[in-house]
Amino acid sequence: MSDTAQLTYKGKTMEFPVVEGTENELAIDIKALRASSGMITLDPGYKNTGSCESAITFLNGEKGILRYRGYSIEELAEHADFLEVAYLLIFGELPTKEQLAKFDHDIKAESHVDEEMKKILDGFPKSAHPMGVIASLTSALIAFNPSSVNVSSEKDMYHAIVRLLAKFPVLVSWTHRKRMGLPLDYGDDSLGYVENIHKMMFKRPNKEYQKNPLVIEALDKLLILHADHEQNCSTSTVRIVGSSHAGLFASISAGISALWGPLHGGANQAVLEMLQAIADDDGDTKKYMAKAKDKEDPFRLMGFGHRVYKNFDPRAKIIKRSADNVLGSLHMEDPLLEIAKGLEKEALEDPYFVKRKLYPNVDFYSGIIYRALGIPVEMFTVMFALGRLPGWIAQWREMRLRGEPIGRPRQVYIGETLRPFKKLEDR
Ligand code: CMC
Repeated sequence: MSDTAQLTYKGKTMEFPVVEGTENELAIDIKALRASSGMITLDPGYKNTGSCESAITFLNGEKGILRYRGYSIEELAEHADFLEVAYLLIFGELPTKEQLAKFDHDIKAESHVDEEMKKILDGFPKSAHPMGVIASLTSALIAFNPSSVNVSSEKDMYHAIVRLLAKFPVLVSWTHRKRMGLPLDYGDDSLGYVENIHKMMFKRPNKEYQKNPLVIEALDKLLILHADHEQNCSTSTVRIVGSSHAGLFASISAGISALWGPLHGGANQAVLEMLQAIADDDGDTKKYMAKAKDKEDPFRLMGFGHRVYKNFDPRAKIIKRSADNVLGSLHMEDPLLEIAKGLEKEALEDPYFVKRKLYPNVDFYSGIIYRALGIPVEMFTVMFALGRLPGWIAQWREMRLRGEPIGRPRQVYIGETLRPFKKLEDR
């Protein structure tokens, strides 16, 4: 007999089952709450609400643990490549050599994007934010791939997944190239997934593409570190949109919009802009620390704090090391890296940040690496989306395969009670 939790209200006691996850996380299953008590729970921001049971990603914010399908993020970042991780997240197991080769082949076979899509891209001004462009283009893909996915067909589901994994990087590269005034190009099937992305983004029309293994490795690692993060804002968006049985592309497009916000994926752009502002202000980190702590000032130290990690963000540790390695290997120096390190040191010793358990998150150092790789600041969040794509797909697939009900929270109404209508002339 499993444990139960009791709730007593006005002398009536109700019992609810307690659910235990494989990592001993406990949850009170309140599915029957409203039926048995007439009440609902109120939890703005879902700080205490589990929206689903999921077997994809485990994270423990107190201990700084992140695992995809049981494998530690540290091991995956060290030994796996992004395509293997994508397969792992989506299908649950690391691929065999044959499975990986087939996955790669099937993605390549779908990497053509209809030329008509270029007209849609053409409609955007060059100055449009790439996150808005990429969300729109992902949505526009539906028009060119209109067949809906039969989720009970493994084949259908697989086809939709490889199509998106194939076409999304093309859209990302087109978005980047348009901003840079470069001709829109296609990929090169002889290259690996990440290398191909790099080539598609950066190849100059009049120059041979030069592969730099260091750059590809750094990019690969960054994408792995961003690949999933359980029920964050954009992933919850993907799941909730998909729960209405909206298609995969529509659900992902919604996720991209959610990711754009500066409190979520948009933080990587905001961090770089903040570091630049500090540099332009003679490196005055103290001033920005004071602003971050001032409750009258809306400014927050971007790249600091996390809803779940209250110890450290394991991704930030890996990225910090990687930032040092990338800059060292490319023989580059970036004054913003020094400012970031100084800011981190100050914050970690400051009682305001210590008390609130605010640590650098994944976005604090990622921008430094993107910058070193020649990626413009406005593209940073798009790179995050590129990394998060397999995670969103995995979560959408899991949600549909589990046959989850449509997501539809309730509310506590605090508006006017019934009042008589007043005609216009009487108001
Ligand atoms: N700078 C200054 N104070 C902060 C910060 C920060 N970056 N983050 C949180 N706090 C304070 C906040 O003011 C509050 O103080 P008090 O208890 O006195 O009211 C306390 O810490 C708790 O903050 P919260 O906003 O209730 O925490 P949350 O879990 O709702 O928010 C967060 C998490 C990530 C939105 C927030 O820490 C934040 O805004 N950070 C900056 C943006 C950022 O870096 N986002 C990237 C997140 S990681 C990647 C991703 O998910 O996309």
